[in-house]
Amino acid sequence: MKVMKMNLKTTALSAVIAASFLASGVMASDKTEPRNEVFKDKYSAQYETWHDTAESKEIVDMLEEVPSLVVLWAGYGFAKDYNAPRGHMYALTDVRNTLRTGAPTSAEDGPMPMACWSCKSPDVPRVIEEQGENGYFAGKWAKGGPEIVNTIGCADCHEKGSAKLRMSRPFAARAMEAIGTPFDKASRKDKQSMVCGQCHVEYYFEKTADRPGFVKFPWDMGTTVEQMEVYYDNMEFSDWTHAVSKTPMLKAQHPGYETWKLGVHGKNNVTCTDCHMPKVAKENGKGKFTDHKVGNPFDRFDDTCATCHNQSKEFMVNLTEERKHKVADLKARAEEQLVKAHFEAKAAWDAGATEAEMKPILMDIRHSQWRWDYATASHGVAAHAADEALRILGTAVDKAADARVKLAQLLAAKGVKQPIAYPDTSTKAKAQAALGMDMKKMNADKEAFKNNMVPKWDAEAKKREATYK
Ligand code: HEC
Ligand code: HEC
Ligand code: HEC
Ligand code: HEC
Repeated sequence: MKVMKMNLKTTALSAVIAASFLASGVMASDKTEPRNEVFKDKYSAQYETWHDTAESKEIVDMLEEVPSLVVLWAGYGFAKDYNAPRGHMYALTDVRNTLRTGAPTSAEDGPMPMACWSCKSPDVPRVIEEQGENGYFAGKWAKGGPEIVNTIGCADCHEKGSAKLRMSRPFAARAMEAIGTPFDKASRKDKQSMVCGQCHVEYYFEKTADRPGFVKFPWDMGTTVEQMEVYYDNMEFSDWTHAVSKTPMLKAQHPGYETWKLGVHGKNNVTCTDCHMPKVAKENGKGKFTDHKVGNPFDRFDDTCATCHNQSKEFMVNLTEERKHKVADLKARAEEQLVKAHFEAKAAWDAGATEAEMKPILMDIRHSQWRWDYATASHGVAAHAADEALRILGTAVDKAADARVKLAQLLAAKGVKQPIAYPDTSTKAKAQAALGMDMKKMNADKEAFKNNMVPKWDAEAKKREATYK
């Protein structure tokens, strides 16, 4: 659908009339003010602390840190580029800059769909309100370039111009309803976590014959790793086919909300906000406000953990570090097994293994990697629910072992000498080279995109926003 730069008033129109207007053009949303700066004066304390998320600017290249990731995600965008999360202020910059979104040269150019903007900006609810979900989700990611231009902000979590919390995304609202708590029936505490659960969750792109890929949370059977696995298996869903082992893979996103629920704090309904957005004293001493600098809770220990616990900051930090090390250790063990399993599966295919022989093995690899990814992509899991992360990673190692036992038997039956020769994937560059990825070209194309497309997007957006009241 072509986006028309019109600014019709919608105030008095019902949703039904609004839908019929979609055929002819596009209306400005009256429910969303996407420009965060508009609230700078009215809510200065919230605005300024929100803006301070810009202080978390360090980029940590996870593929450099853990080169095995390149192999685990072979054939998928994450093998090109994957950084650890940083401040909300960078969400848009980072989705534009990542190699995963490619280097489109026109609005119709791929590789990614519109859905990839969905957790980056309050322009997402704005466009959904203006065009409906069918309109928003239609087309490639580049279509949204001139529209999605304000980073995660007020309207992602609040009703327009108000302190009242909201679910800004209909797909998130539907998912919360599916697990039993519609937002308007939820308690204040529940809402404080649900706003984060719009984005810090597992999701996939659900495509049907008559509409583009919608974001959906796979929660219809529940939110544990096993329940989502069954959900995906039942519909024979896969995010991609692994380039080395040919496994139909699942990519876990960041099921932080789901894993938080399973931890001791989630079970006691200690909310995301209690630790990441505490109530703090105003500078002028007149009352309290919510600190909007979403970041590391230990940076303001007295307002977070210490409101409920007596232990020292040092004790709590050390305890958390210890848990991180334990999770990281088991995670690394799962990765090592999985990397080998992918290459051994390739050796089996190369030796003439049949689909029927490979099927149970590929299922083990699929389930192992899904579980590994679910545990590790739920950022902060060592702090939120270390026991659950360790449990899941244990099953990931177990399933990788199942795959490798079957592979050893199959390779022996095919007369393949073991151990097979594994390529050198000890650095990011070596791993990418082993997979035949042309990083030089990808990087050059991305630079051209940043220099040519992005300024055009920004100029177009500026013109559009100038028509706003
Ligand atoms: C990631 C979600 C999120 C974003 C983004 C966000 N807020 Fe909030 N906001 C909250 C939560 C959670 C509360 C606390 C609600 C409660 O106390 O139940 C809150 C509370 C508030 C309040 C009530 C007073 C207070 O301080 O407790 C105001 C006003 C407010 N926010 C303004 C803003 C403004 C302005 C922006 C953008 C600059 C913004 N918020 C961005 C989640 C968010
Ligand atoms: C609109 C989607 C969205 C919402 C709502 C949202 N987040 Fe995020 N969050 C993100 C994205 C995307 C990133 C990664 C940004 C990047 O790295 O560029 C992120 C990053 C983070 C980080 C890492 C920050 C750092 O400095 O390393 C934390 C912590 C976090 N979010 C917590 C929360 C909490 C708590 C809430 C609710 C109060 C919340 N988020 C609401 C999308 C969202
Ligand atoms: C709003 C209150 C609240 C806040 C804030 C809070 N906790 Fe807790 N915490 C709890 C409750 C409730 C329990 C469960 C206590 C019980 O079962 O006796 C708990 C349990 C714990 C435990 C013991 C269970 C376990 O995980 O082994 C640790 C450790 C802990 N919290 C660490 C922290 C840290 C670190 C922070 C800050 C980042 C924090 N808590 C913030 C309420 C809170
Ligand atoms: C009991 C306190 C507590 C609660 C509740 C809590 N978190 Fe955290 N969170 C932490 C701590 C502590 C860390 C780790 C900080 C560190 O790395 O030292 C963390 C880390 C994170 C990270 C990773 C940041 C990064 O840069 O790697 C994200 C994202 C996050 N939390 C989001 C959430 C969301 C979303 C919720 C609610 C669903 C939530 N948290 C609930 C304490 C909490």
